[in-house]
Amino acid sequence: MDVDTQLATLREGALAALATAESTDALEQWRVEYLGKRGALTQVLRGLGTLPADQRPLAGQAANAVKAALEDALAARGEALKAAELVEALQAERVDVTLPGRPPALGGLHPTTLVVERILDIFRDLGFRIAEGPEVETDYYNFGALNIPEDHPARDMWDTFYVRPPDVLLRTHTSPNQVRVMERVLRELPRAEANGTPPPVRVVVPGRVYRYEAQDASHEWMFYQVEGLAVDAGLTMADLKGVLVAFARQMFWPDVECRFRCQYFPFVEPGLEMDMQCHVCRGAGCRVCQGGGWIELLGAGMVHPFVLRNAGYDPDRVNGFAFGMGPERIAMLKYGIDDIRLFYGNDLRFLEQFHQAG
Ligand code: DAH
Repeated sequence: MDVDTQLATLREGALAALATAESTDALEQWRVEYLGKRGALTQVLRGLGTLPADQRPLAGQAANAVKAALEDALAARGEALKAAELVEALQAERVDVTLPGRPPALGGLHPTTLVVERILDIFRDLGFRIAEGPEVETDYYNFGALNIPEDHPARDMWDTFYVRPPDVLLRTHTSPNQVRVMERVLRELPRAEANGTPPPVRVVVPGRVYRYEAQDASHEWMFYQVEGLAVDAGLTMADLKGVLVAFARQMFWPDVECRFRCQYFPFVEPGLEMDMQCHVCRGAGCRVCQGGGWIELLGAGMVHPFVLRNAGYDPDRVNGFAFGMGPERIAMLKYGIDDIRLFYGNDLRFLEQFHQAG
């Protein structure tokens, strides 16, 4: 085989092999095989010495041209591989900027908050203002001022946590605000009182209360209450009933029936409990209302003269009515929740069900 044919074959074979090299390693192998010290082309170049002198220059030129061609092809193949790798890497990192974003998880209002706000809205429409009072309370406001003296058996209804025994405690109800609000009104409007027109009060007071209590499906050691108080000359039980029935009809359904039963609370006289028609059977009698058709809703009564006097009002000139209700209880009736412990158990599966409510 003459040198030209040898070179042409080598060149063809080398280029074909190069086209199949898919990695840097393969390229290096190829380089060693054809262009290396013991490579195929080097062998040919070495053999040139054995040619007759007049053929050497042309054969040498031809061999160098093949060498240059192979070197160029190697460089080009290397570039091509690098470019392909880059494209592959870019493709792996590709992001679709036209995809919609991931929506952030939005919170919602707690069911207790929803119900407290609804209660306050209804009473606001009925002409009541909103006030607040301390959760850490004194024995006097929580008990004494409300006609629950020390050692009175009624204290058993409200066992609590003492912050600094025996006088500072976590309030067991929002009722201390009956006296606090009346005192504040008289303090802020002393002249009205001096003029012989004691200022009227219409207020609702929401807030947390605490009980030293074993937990079960209907008892928690912390829950909310909304207290209501109206004080004015000539208020009667008719006012109390009118306000509370109007409240129930807005809170539940427009013609819900209500009834009032006598009940003992030391700070009201007479004291009573208000029932509403069962929300499940609407009065027919079912398991939820234990067949009676009624569900207990709240406590209320005409403010005891002792309480009015403690706050600085004259029970001979004014009287009042008061009520206290539990928003969790109302939420349980409204939304069909059967365990009060769900409210503060921090289980999102429960809480998320109220995100669209309200
Ligand atoms: N404070 C009472 C309780 O926690 C509820 C209550 C009953 C409040 C009668 C009142 C009322 O204002 O008149 O059990």
